[in-house]
Amino acid sequence: MSNQPVSIHQIAAQFGTDSGNYEVLTDAAIRSKGVEGAAVEIGVRLGGGLQKIIDGLVESGQTPDKPVFGIDPYGNIEYYRDEIFKEGRCDYTNEMRDICMINLYLYCRQKNVNFYMFNLEDTEFFNRYADGVPVYADHKSLVNKYSVVHFDGPHTHSKLLMPRLHSSSRGQILVRSSFSMT
Ligand SMILES: C[S@@+](CC[C@H](N)C(=O)[O-])C[C@H]1O[C@@H](n2cnc3c(N)ncnc32)[C@H](O)[C@@H]1O
Repeated sequence: MSNQPVSIHQIAAQFGTDSGNYEVLTDAAIRSKGVEGAAVEIGVRLGGGLQKIIDGLVESGQTPDKPVFGIDPYGNIEYYRDEIFKEGRCDYTNEMRDICMINLYLYCRQKNVNFYMFNLEDTEFFNRYADGVPVYADHKSLVNKYSVVHFDGPHTHSKLLMPRLHSSSRGQILVRSSFSMT
């Protein structure tokens, strides 16, 4: 076996997904070009949705300038999914978090993306960062606008959080996990 160090570009990042129509996310990210603010996914799981958002940002030349945020508490907590599945535990464990973070940060390095993960519930994130998120890239800036947001955490929360996001950015694109765009 060779002792040569392996370049990060030789390792393939691996992401899991749990539904279909992911091209909608890539399309939404592309369409957010020219809209001010971070690209966000609420509910990251194994990173498949965020990968598609990142692909759209890369394809449309928005990286590394546009920061990307992932928001997910993991920790195998009780999770209210929707009216049909109600509340329960899934497999969103801290082990899943660690595997996802390895792959996401690898992918972001390969694609030159300025990525920040917040291991928080969406409500905690918006309470604690109500006035914005400090982001560091050559200089410090406060990000308090969101250009494209994929809601894929608890389904009921999208209604709760939308008023806090709406009009934060002109032309902003919001995608709910049913994949309807508003
Ligand atoms: C349906 S999965 C997300 C799937 C992922 N977006 C994809 O495209 O593959 C739901 C995720 O929401 C996370 N979650 C649960 N409660 C949350 C909350 N209050 N805020 C943000 N994320 C939450 C879970 O930990 C889980 O990873």
